[in-house]
Amino acid sequence: MVPMIDLKKEFAEIKGEVLDMLTEVLESSQYILGPKVAELEKKIADYHNVSSAIGVASGTDALHLSIDALGIGEGDEVITTPFTFFATAEAILYTGAIPVFVDIEPETLNIDVSLIEKKITSRTKAIVPVHIFGHPADMGAIQKIAKKHNLKIIEDCAQAFGSSIRDKKVGGFGDAGCFSFYPSKNLGAYGDGGIITINDLAVADNIRKLRNHGSKGAYKHETIGFNSRLDEIQAGILLVKFKRIDEYNKKRRQKAALYTKLLSGVVKCPVEKDGFYHVYHQYTIMTPKRDVIQEKLKASGVSSVVYYPIPLHLQEALGFLGYKEGDFSVTERAVREVLSLPMYPGLEEDTIKKIAETIKGAV
Ligand SMILES: Cc1ncc(COP(=O)(O)O)c(C=O)c1O
Repeated sequence: MVPMIDLKKEFAEIKGEVLDMLTEVLESSQYILGPKVAELEKKIADYHNVSSAIGVASGTDALHLSIDALGIGEGDEVITTPFTFFATAEAILYTGAIPVFVDIEPETLNIDVSLIEKKITSRTKAIVPVHIFGHPADMGAIQKIAKKHNLKIIEDCAQAFGSSIRDKKVGGFGDAGCFSFYPSKNLGAYGDGGIITINDLAVADNIRKLRNHGSKGAYKHETIGFNSRLDEIQAGILLVKFKRIDEYNKKRRQKAALYTKLLSGVVKCPVEKDGFYHVYHQYTIMTPKRDVIQEKLKASGVSSVVYYPIPLHLQEALGFLGYKEGDFSVTERAVREVLSLPMYPGLEEDTIKKIAETIKGAV
């Protein structure tokens, strides 16, 4: 079966370096918040041209701790997209705030900035744009709206490590940028992990406390916090992969270009807006023939996944928010038509050609 992502192949390529790194960390006997985490934080802050990066236990925690540290909580409203992974809304709800959904653009599947202002009320405190599948949301427009209405911006960059707009990396546009190192992410660990990119030193300090039981150390607790630390083993593995992230993203873009060349006019291929740099965390086509195509791919030994079959506003767990079918027509059409195809830096050209042939044969 052609996998969605071939982590075995990737590991085989970096095995020597990873095992050396693991040995170094294991022999150091420092397993939590040690020098590897500090080195990774420094490198990731520099990469994003921000003053700080703070390693945490997951992308979900990166969002939760950022929203919390930016002073958003009980009764506040936070604008976001219904076309995302569930964690985006969960993180907002953990703080006591309420997610308020805004429909998406049909082309990039990112939040439709032209619809945001209509949803702003006196309780709105923040916007959480999600750079879905690796294509940046329209951060210029979001920054303007946020400035006008005095809102915070927390970027959900879980799928977009290395994405940029006119050479400025996502994670550096908002008040905080939240990344996931879940193993299948384009920069993935071998377990859970996440990081927050941030410029405000006071908020960064607050997040550092929140991730460590409200303490800066020495068993002095200034606030009620969480246990949400990135461990040394994951940080070490991420340092090995971080060195290669630009090359990995470049390769993803080459695979995406080949898919698009072969599938244009057959299905709706992902687009890249002018000046935007898409890292193709997912290569997601759209077509009304989605289910037939998925069956044919499966029969010919190719994996494919529907990200996401149920939009957040129709998730059972969020029923209490009171949304109903028909509220977000672009999102609801997307969930019927999207299909993500295998995508990883080592994906063979011949495999892409075979996948494209199968799709052509199915429509
Ligand atoms: C858009 C989005 N937000 C948040 C998350 C949560 O990240 P994690 O799984 O590291 O908690 C993910 C991925 O899982 C994601 O895709």
